[in-house]
Amino acid sequence: MEKLIINGPAKLNGSVRVSRAKNAYLPILAGVLLCEEPVTLKNIPELRDINTMKKLLENLGVKITGDNTAMTFDCSKIDHVEATYDLVKTMRASICVLGPLLTRFNEAKVSLPGGCAIGTRPIDIHLSKLEKLGANIQLEAGYVHATTKGLIGTNLVLDFPSVGATENILMAAVLAKGTTKIENCALEPEVTDLANFLNTMGAKITGIGTKTLVVEGVERLTGGEYEAIGDRIEAATYIIAGLMTNSEIKVEGFVPEHLEFVLNKMKAAGAKLEVEDQAVHVYPSKMTSIDVDTAPYPGFPTDVQAQFIALATTIEESSVITENIFENRFMHVPELVRMGADISLKGNAAIVKGGNTLVGAPVMCTDLRASAALVLAGLVAEGETEVQRVYHLDRGYEKLAMKLSNLGADIKRVD
Ligand code: EPZ
Repeated sequence: MEKLIINGPAKLNGSVRVSRAKNAYLPILAGVLLCEEPVTLKNIPELRDINTMKKLLENLGVKITGDNTAMTFDCSKIDHVEATYDLVKTMRASICVLGPLLTRFNEAKVSLPGGCAIGTRPIDIHLSKLEKLGANIQLEAGYVHATTKGLIGTNLVLDFPSVGATENILMAAVLAKGTTKIENCALEPEVTDLANFLNTMGAKITGIGTKTLVVEGVERLTGGEYEAIGDRIEAATYIIAGLMTNSEIKVEGFVPEHLEFVLNKMKAAGAKLEVEDQAVHVYPSKMTSIDVDTAPYPGFPTDVQAQFIALATTIEESSVITENIFENRFMHVPELVRMGADISLKGNAAIVKGGNTLVGAPVMCTDLRASAALVLAGLVAEGETEVQRVYHLDRGYEKLAMKLSNLGADIKRVD
């Protein structure tokens, strides 16, 4: 099983360009199923989750040509509507093919995604709102079997601003008859990017970027070209790498306002950051304690929580980081403690007492963002850190070892 060997402490310099956003391209790849003409997507990141979604699309009969710089998807000959367990179980976002398949073909059979390391992650909001649009939902042997005589637009209010539910329902509404109003939508930039993609393909969505999306159903979507936004979570990870190693680096290729809350939190704690149009310049900073509560956008993103805990281990005073979105998203904590961090958990809060020098150790990845936290800790720890099960990292970080090595880190990937 591949692992990363990191020798710390590291000093970083230079600049790193982040990839296009995984969490934008995953729903966009599901949205491709709505299009009757070829869709070309630009600069798709080479990630395990993206490859899983591509396999799922090919299993449905989608023809995929080209390479990651320009990949074309032809959905004119989809020959069946079942997304099987073997693929869905490895990547929950696959559930987002349910809405597109159902609204275009009046039937979809998608394996229940099951839980994952960070929580049970139910899909009750997805299913209840599809029923309101006219779907008949049966749960059969671990599969969601949805059928309809044709979805009909209506007014919906999401019980929680779920990212995936907003995306699934939005895509279902695009080809539904009549108007659908979706209230309490998720505001994440990746949701906005999906809506912009769908409109580029001929959908009629208004209210983009607000909590209320209004969709005028259309007969069909055409096709065209699209490139997703830069990955703000990847960007946050590298900004934190710069802060933890007290380095001067530039992180580019994303929209800084998509990280406004995070950047403001960092600056309030003493981080010296220069925000440019599509980049953030990080300078050596003496930071004070950081208290954070994760929340739906525009609040502090849960996907940066683990990396913030790693950052807090390098700050003298104590910090409190509270996770409000997922019920089990502290699996990086015991591994960080093994490296000498002083972190105690009280319910959904992690109290991080900084100031200890971390010491390199063999550590194990458990989920995508926990893995990123371990790599960040390895950059500052004294000695060698061996990060095992790096396939978790490959789900969401394109060429991580190469990008960090180009910034000056002593990191290599070994079998
Ligand atoms: C998306 O997951 C992201 N994944 C996650 O990123 C991210 O952590 C999450 O949004 C929150 O920002 C992708 O975009 C592919 P949710 P999603 O539905 O859509 C509850 C990463 O590291 N909920 O907003 O699954 C749910 O249990 C990944 O890149 C219901 O109760 O997140 C959770 O507690 C991890 N019922 C909360 O809402 C539902 O029907 C937020 O989930 C749906 C969700």
